[in-house]
Amino acid sequence: MISWLRKKISYLFIKEDPKAHAFDSFYRELFQSRCYQEIARELQGHPHPPYNLSTPQAYKEVEKLLKESIASAQNFDLLDWGCGSAPLLGLLELKGVSYLGVDFSAVVLDFARKKFPTAQFLKHHQNFGLPQKKSFHTVLAIDSLYPHRPSETLHASLSRALRYSQKELIILQNIYRGEAELPQFPQWERNIVDLTADFKDLIASWQEALQRPEVISDSEKYPLLWGTISQEMAKHQRSLNAERNDALPQKNLFKRYLIHYSRKLN
Ligand SMILES: C[S@@+](CC[C@H](N)C(=O)[O-])C[C@H]1O[C@@H](n2cnc3c(N)ncnc32)[C@H](O)[C@@H]1O
Repeated sequence: MISWLRKKISYLFIKEDPKAHAFDSFYRELFQSRCYQEIARELQGHPHPPYNLSTPQAYKEVEKLLKESIASAQNFDLLDWGCGSAPLLGLLELKGVSYLGVDFSAVVLDFARKKFPTAQFLKHHQNFGLPQKKSFHTVLAIDSLYPHRPSETLHASLSRALRYSQKELIILQNIYRGEAELPQFPQWERNIVDLTADFKDLIASWQEALQRPEVISDSEKYPLLWGTISQEMAKHQRSLNAERNDALPQKNLFKRYLIHYSRKLN
């Protein structure tokens, strides 16, 4: 009871979420494990360790969208929502872009700040308003816009992210009920790129990598990291299989989507 109360108070008043500490512990192992970093580079093409499920193809699509909007905007600023280790900055040349990465894990932000000293980072919980009362040309969320409270829906997470955007929201996200799960907003156009086939290949490669002797031995040193990755990959595999086998396809339509919401022109 006391621990429940403490959690509640810290969540409501100090704006600390115990989940942030769980992410801290996870990221500590991730940054120490060379084995994870090598496999992430081999399978996902990342020059520095991220924790996401994007592939080089997915990043190309994100890059295409960003380049178009940078070219057409006068003042382009980008909010990277749940930025993690800011892999985007390692992959794309974002010259002349003002970048703010927000995340609730202090450990990952410490890493990102050292790696990208000219970018701005802020420790921030998605459920609370940003301290600056400003909006950004573009908001980007790669594998970071998922419900955090049991009551929260994708609709609520999206509405919150859209509040910070002047022009567009780009998200890369797993969707479990097909397009029906994705809300339409009256002021916003929605475009989808389906990356499910690409994602299937990535999950198969990760499943294979998890059987390698070096990973099995690394798991003894970094149990939280590899335990989490194994559970996640198994979950994604189940979702992908359900898509093929379920007799009620509309109930289980797993998709990996890049979704682009752009403000409608009046
Ligand atoms: C799967 S990682 C993706 C990170 C990054 N976007 C990338 O592509 O590597 C999800 C990130 O969201 C952050 N996160 C999760 N819940 C959050 C919340 N409620 N507020 C802020 N950040 C959160 C985690 O700390 C983590 O870095």
